[in-house]
Amino acid sequence: MNPTISITLLIAVLQVSQGQKVTSLTACMVDQSLRLDCRHENNTNLPIQHEFSLTREKKKHVLSGTLGVPEHTYRSRINFSSKPHIKVLTLANFTTKDEGIYTCELRVSGQTPGVSNQNVSVLRDKLVKCEGINLLAQNTSWLLLLLLSLSLLQATDFISL
Ligand SMILES: *[C@@H]1O[C@H](CO)[C@@H](O)[C@H](O)[C@H]1NC(C)=O
Ligand SMILES: *[C@@H]1O[C@H](CO)[C@@H](O)[C@H](O)[C@H]1NC(C)=O
Ligand SMILES: *[C@@H]1O[C@H](CO)[C@@H](O)[C@H](O)[C@H]1NC(C)=O
Ligand SMILES: *[C@@H]1O[C@H](CO)[C@@H](O)[C@H](O)[C@H]1NC(C)=O
Ligand SMILES: *[C@@H]1O[C@H](CO)[C@@H](O)[C@H](O)[C@H]1NC(C)=O
Repeated sequence: MNPTISITLLIAVLQVSQGQKVTSLTACMVDQSLRLDCRHENNTNLPIQHEFSLTREKKKHVLSGTLGVPEHTYRSRINFSSKPHIKVLTLANFTTKDEGIYTCELRVSGQTPGVSNQNVSVLRDKLVKCEGINLLAQNTSWLLLLLLSLSLLQATDFISL
């Protein structure tokens, strides 16, 4: 077999077997809300199902998602947004009553194993504020603009010389 083709095949196989791994789950506070950032790989066009849940005192509560049925009591406090590589859940008015293990789980239909998850233990006293760094990672356009204008400035400097 042509080596290029075999390498391409190998990469394709590796990507399929990687599925939609959840790469990280982090928690931080924005004002009084808990924010969970669930980062994941996205290399399939198959439908992906997801679920955010909280395990507290050995009881699992589904907060949001398409896998389980979200519990009614949380619905009014939950906000969910999704981008190709990250799912973000916010839980408003976070209190110590919401402490526990939070889980982000993804499932790709028609794939085995097809399930991937990450857990994060959340304690109110240990929570950090969501820093600008996090926002930076999600919105780099202003940084890009800054870099662009810097290089523009440099360019005009060169012209005026
Ligand atoms: C958060 O708590 C405040 C004060 O108790 C209440 O007015 C507000 O509606 C709550 N927000 C949500 C989303 O539950
Ligand atoms: C969810 O987000 C929308 C728009 O950002 C906001 O108007 C709404 O109050 C939020 N709801 C909760 C429960 O935080
Ligand atoms: C994966 O990426 C595609 C294209 O970028 C997007 O349409 C799809 O919604 C993404 N899937 C998830 C689960 O974010
Ligand atoms: C997260 O917790 C669940 C339930 O306790 C467990 O089945 C799963 O293996 C954990 N995931 C990771 C990545 O540790
Ligand atoms: C980044 O932020 C700017 C202004 O805050 C907004 O207009 C833009 O849509 C954001 N871009 C992304 C990719 O979120």
